[in-house]
Amino acid sequence: MSDLYCVFGHPISHSRSPALHAAFAAQTDQALHYEARDPDEAFESAWHAFVEEGGLGANVTVPFKERAYRLADRLTERASRAGAVNTLMVNAQGQALGDTTDGVGLLRDLVRLQARLEGGRILVLGAGGAVRGVLEPLLETAPATVMVANRTASKASALAEAFKDLGPVEGGHFDDATGHFDVIINGTSASLGNELPALPNVTLDETTLAYDMMYAARPTVFMTWAEALGARTSDGLGMLVEQAAASFELWRGAVPETEPVRRAVRQALT
Ligand code: ATR
Repeated sequence: MSDLYCVFGHPISHSRSPALHAAFAAQTDQALHYEARDPDEAFESAWHAFVEEGGLGANVTVPFKERAYRLADRLTERASRAGAVNTLMVNAQGQALGDTTDGVGLLRDLVRLQARLEGGRILVLGAGGAVRGVLEPLLETAPATVMVANRTASKASALAEAFKDLGPVEGGHFDDATGHFDVIINGTSASLGNELPALPNVTLDETTLAYDMMYAARPTVFMTWAEALGARTSDGLGMLVEQAAASFELWRGAVPETEPVRRAVRQALT
């Protein structure tokens, strides 16, 4: 029987993860079966049942990432800092090891897009779980500054405080973000509701990469806004593919090629 993996989420029917992992498995000649599971409310018991069945690892998506963090017997340092787990793995002792690959997924995609990270001014919009998960790798790139701006300023300030030992990070309201930025990352859920935070004091130009952590068949509201101001734009499809690849590497020790997979998923979206 093939080695068993899955993704837990609610809802999960539109998840791209099974297709991504099937592509990685085919590419690297791995015999594995990866499926989508919706545990409804009962995430913890679904995980334990999965392990009983012989499951070796799982991805965890909305809304279970914080619960996976609490469920894990052991955490990697980056998961511990992120306060969230998107990758679970059963280790040799039968314990659940929790990791997060969201941050490294974003970082790999930003590198692909040749974003100016080292020495750059980076603006991150939002201060929820999605942003908490990506601050550590962003700060590791030695940026000039990472400004976390949020509708609720106190949440952004609290995040900046929690990460300040890793690099130059400040937090505040959208109005507090001032000047030119090399990279602007939308980590709010505002794109979903077609609402856009106003950034009255921010300037962007063709040297700016505006990156939406969401992905969609068409440009998001955030991308349309940034493009009108002259910025280069990208949605978060590459981040999705890269975080999946990083999970796959963790489980299987094999490194898949992400470029053809990203292209195929993009095509399937349109
Ligand atoms: P996630 O895990 O996706 O980050 P979350 O923790 O609920 O979800 O965080 C959602 C983020 O989107 C928050 O930063 C939220 O701002 P607040 O902290 O002020 O609530 C932001 N957000 C959601 N809807 C928004 C909107 N319409 N305009 C601006 N920011 C919005």
